[in-house]
Amino acid sequence: MPKKKTNPGSPKRRGLPTIQKTKPSVLLGVSGSVAAYKAVDLASKLAALGAVVKTIMTENACRFVGPKSLEAVTRSVVFMSLWSSPEDHKSAHIALVDWADIVVVAPATANILGKAANGICDDLLSTTLCAASARPVLLAPTMNNNMWNSPAVQRNVRALKEMGLELVGPVEGRLANGAMGMGRMAEPQEILAAIEKTLLRIKRGKK
Ligand SMILES: Cc1cc2nc3c(=O)[nH]c(=O)nc-3n(C[C@H](O)[C@H](O)[C@H](O)COP(=O)(O)O)c2cc1C
Repeated sequence: MPKKKTNPGSPKRRGLPTIQKTKPSVLLGVSGSVAAYKAVDLASKLAALGAVVKTIMTENACRFVGPKSLEAVTRSVVFMSLWSSPEDHKSAHIALVDWADIVVVAPATANILGKAANGICDDLLSTTLCAASARPVLLAPTMNNNMWNSPAVQRNVRALKEMGLELVGPVEGRLANGAMGMGRMAEPQEILAAIEKTLLRIKRGKK
């Protein structure tokens, strides 16, 4: 067997420990739906599995769940504004995308699907999604069944899939108004499985 060539300048060759990124960086977007409370469970499950989670909440998401809950489970500040930056020299949306291995939006409203499908950038989450074309993006939509079945939402969903974004759910079940129908957000466990599958794919070198 020929000996494997080692780069003479590499840390391994110089006897230094190699720095390996073992913890996946998950950027979680939360938009304004009753299902926003499930984002806390998802973030908590991700953190328990060893992921580092940073969260972006829309202004309307904050009407459903307090940022403090997400800060507590992720042990990180929640980002809400385009105009505050995690690093002095970088805009928040660019810095967060650079940091992330994967961007997940759960719950994803009809509004954020429409913005992402059409390149609308009028808040931190939508601008981040527009900047994330080099990252895997997973969306977990939820909405009333009439909204989900509307031609506009279905057109946006088709566009998002064509753009290479992944969707998990929605599923049939009890909706916020008590009716049964299509539009319930996939359960955190199912979203977690989809995230793990995507992260595994990235590890194998595919986007
Ligand atoms: C009680 C309540 C529940 C809502 N639930 C949803 C929902 O599940 N999905 C959705 O697309 N919109 C839902 N909306 C409407 C969105 O909150 C609204 O379209 C908002 O502009 C979304 O903003 P965002 O996408 O910036 O968070 C709900 C509104 C109210 C008042």
